[in-house]
Amino acid sequence: MSEVDLTVKIGDKLELKNPVILASGTVGYGNEISEFIDLSKIGAIVTKSISLHPRKGNPPQRVVETTGGMLNAIGLANVGLEKFISEKLPFLEKVKSTLICNIAASTIEEYVECVSILDRYEIIKAFEINVSCPNVKDGGLIFGNNLNAVAEITGRVRKATGKTLIIKLSPNVSDIAGFARVAKERGADAVSAINTLVGTAFDINTRKPKIKNITGGLSGPAIKPVALAKVLEISRNVDIPVIGIGGITDWQDAVEFMIAGASAVQLGTVNFVNPKASIEVLEGLNKYCLDNKIKRIAELTASYVL
Ligand SMILES: Cc1cc2nc3c(=O)[nH]c(=O)nc-3n(C[C@H](O)[C@H](O)[C@H](O)COP(=O)(O)O)c2cc1C
Repeated sequence: MSEVDLTVKIGDKLELKNPVILASGTVGYGNEISEFIDLSKIGAIVTKSISLHPRKGNPPQRVVETTGGMLNAIGLANVGLEKFISEKLPFLEKVKSTLICNIAASTIEEYVECVSILDRYEIIKAFEINVSCPNVKDGGLIFGNNLNAVAEITGRVRKATGKTLIIKLSPNVSDIAGFARVAKERGADAVSAINTLVGTAFDINTRKPKIKNITGGLSGPAIKPVALAKVLEISRNVDIPVIGIGGITDWQDAVEFMIAGASAVQLGTVNFVNPKASIEVLEGLNKYCLDNKIKRIAELTASYVL
C-alpha cells in the first residue's frame, strides 16, 4: 500500500487518484493500450479529439520521426460523435479510469454542440477543448492563437456544461499566459499546456517535405524544455491549475513538470515507444515522494525555487 497521498485536484470538481494522465491522440479511445496497462490505475485518460462528424484526417505521409521526437499531421482523424458514443464509450465505461473527452471543432457552435451532447454521460468527468491543433485548416490554430476566439469558445462551452472544463493551449504563441488568463476569466477550471509545436522536415534527395501536409506538430522529448517553460510562465502569472504536457518519458520528467507548476501531467508520444510508461511514471512518482518524505504529491506543484 502506498503511504503517499497521490491524489490531485484539477479545479473544484475533479479529483484524480494520481497525476498521471494519457494524452489525447496517443492512445485512441483506450482499447489498444489497455492490453499493456490497467487503465483503472492511472489518473485519467484523454480521448483522441472528437468532432461532431467523422473526419478522415490528412492524406499520408502523416507521421515522421525526428531527432528526439516526431512530427505528426494526422489532421484530427476520428470516428465522430455518434460512433464515439455507440462504439467507444461502452468500453471506456467498463475500464474504471477517469474519462476526459477532448473536443475539436471547426466552429464555435460545433464545440458547443459536442459538449452539450456529451454532457449527459455520467462517465465523462471533464472536457478538454482542443483549440490548438496545428494540423487542420479549419479551426485548430485559427482559434488557438486568437485571444478573442479562445475567450469566446471558453465562455460559450462553459455555459454548456457544469463539468470540469480544461482548455488545451498552443505553444505557438508569444504570450501563453495571456491565453490562460482569458480561459480563466471565461470560466475554465484548468488549462493544459502544451499541444505540439509547428515543425517540418525535408527529404534531401527529393527536396520534398517528409509530411504531405508540409508542416506537422512536433512532440516528444525534443519539446520538453519548451513545454516546461510554458508551464512555468502560466504558473507564475495566472492562478489556474495547469496540466503539463510535452516530452515526458519518465518519472523524473513528471516531477520536473510538477515543480514548474503542473497539478498533473499528460504522457503522449512516449506511449508509442513504451506503452507501459504511464505505470512506470506512477511508480517512480510514488517512490520519489517516499524517498523525499513528501506526504501529498500535490505539494510538489509550483514548488520551484527561483
Ligand atoms: C500522433 C499524435 C496525435 C495527436 N492527436 C491529438 C489530438 O487529437 N488532440 C489533441 O488535443 N492533441 C493531440 N496530440 C498532442 C498530444 O496530446 C500532446 O499535447 C503533444 O504530443 C505533446 O506531448 P508529448 O510530447 O508527450 O507527445 C497528438 C499528438 C500526437 C503525437
